[in-house]
This record gives sequence, C-alpha cells and structure tokens, in this order.
Amino acid sequence: MSAAPARRRRIVVKAVLWVVCLAPALSLGIAALMDGLGANPIEEITHRTGWWALFLLTVTLSITPLRRVAGKPGWIRYRRLVGLFAFFYATLHFLTYLVLDQFFGWSYIIEDIAERPFITLGFATWLLLVALAVTSTTGWIRRLRKNWQRLHRLIYPAALAGGVHFLWKVKADTREPIVFLAVIIALLLVRAWAPWKRRASRVG
Ligand code: HEM
Repeated sequence: MSAAPARRRRIVVKAVLWVVCLAPALSLGIAALMDGLGANPIEEITHRTGWWALFLLTVTLSITPLRRVAGKPGWIRYRRLVGLFAFFYATLHFLTYLVLDQFFGWSYIIEDIAERPFITLGFATWLLLVALAVTSTTGWIRRLRKNWQRLHRLIYPAALAGGVHFLWKVKADTREPIVFLAVIIALLLVRAWAPWKRRASRVG
C-alpha cells in the first residue's frame, strides 16, 4: 500500500480511538450534569473511572499478542494512545478520591494510604502508571534505549495490582475482578512464553 492511504487510515483509526476512549468520560460528565448518577454519585464516579482505567490497561496489554495473532505489526502504533487513556481514567479515579471523597484532607489521605492495604495498592498502581506515562514519549524511548523496554514491563505488575485492588474492594460478587485477573495473568503467561518460543524455533 502506498504511504498516503496508509497514513490516512492511521489518522482515522486514531480519531476513532480518541472518540471511543473519551466516550465513558463524556457520558460520566453528562450524567453528572443531568443528575443521573444515582443516590451515591461519588461512588458511581469512583466505580466508572476505576473500571475504565483497569479495562483500558488490560486492552493495552493485549495489543502486543493480538497484533502477532492477527499479523498486524502496525497496531503497535495505537498502544501508547490506549495506555495514556488508562492513565487518564486512573488519574480521574484518584482525583475523585482526593477531591470529592476526602476534600483534600491530606492527613487523613496519608493515613489512609499508609494504613489501608487496599488504598496502598491503588496508590502504588497509580505511581507505576505515572512512571509509564511520563516515559512514554519518543524522547524518553531514545534516552532510555533498552532500559525503556525493561521499565515498560512494569505495566504487568501495574495491571495485576489494579486487578487485586478491584478484587479487594468487592465484597459479594467477585466474578468481574476474577475475570480481569484471569485475562491479565493469561496475557502475562503469553508474554513470558513468546521469547522462549522464539529461542526454541531458532535452535530447532
Ligand atoms: C491513587 C490511587 C487509588 C485510590 C486512592 C483508589 C481508591 C479507590 C476507592 C476508594 C474505591 C472504591 C471502594 C469502595 O467502593 O468501597 C476504588 C475502587 C476501584 N479502583 Fe481504585 N484507587 C486508586 C487507584 C486505582 C487504579 C490505578 C486502578 C486501576 C488501574 C483502580 C481501579 C479500581 C477499580 C476497578 C475499582 C472498583 C470499581 C467498582 O466496581 O466499584 N484504582 N478505588
């Protein structure tokens, strides 16, 4: 395919991804303006932003194996965009806790992060996502070279920690966090297995 149509297609795919990834935030904003978030709006915002953060993080992880299976190496171009939207929702989630839930009560927030393991894990996950988002630029890829790939493997512990944070929070129906964790662990195993497979085929 010549360069111009391929470039046009990439722009269209990116525009569609922007719309799809922004839709949950827009629908949340509209529901908030129209008083449509139910009896406990803060809980609803925390729920939706946390869910989308974890979902988009899982989608980001799946892009590498999916592009191999589908034979579409170019899909790698969209991974950063989806990953940054995962960070965007995680940050909205954190801000909901910080601003709407705790009203910037710093001493209580620090105590919460230090003493409630569920919050400690959420905060640690967010810090990992900050490191990944900050170093996701072309400048950092160039600066860190091989270490960039090592650093960005942190997306796996981040997704696992996000999944456990979700499981920890749920009291009755644990099915959804368990499905998330099963998918994340499967993606981790695929990732661990793929280099071994490449080495074996080189030997064989
Ligand atoms: C700054 C760190 C974080 C804090 C303070 C925090 C805090 C919270 C709180 C207070 C809840 C609701 C608990 C409840 O309703 O009983 C929650 C739920 C949740 N969080 Fe976080 N969180 C953080 C980071 C994260 C991150 C980084 C992710 C994802 C990658 C995440 C994903 C979730 C999910 C999926 C839920 C469950 C949503 C639901 O079904 O209600 N959280 N978090």
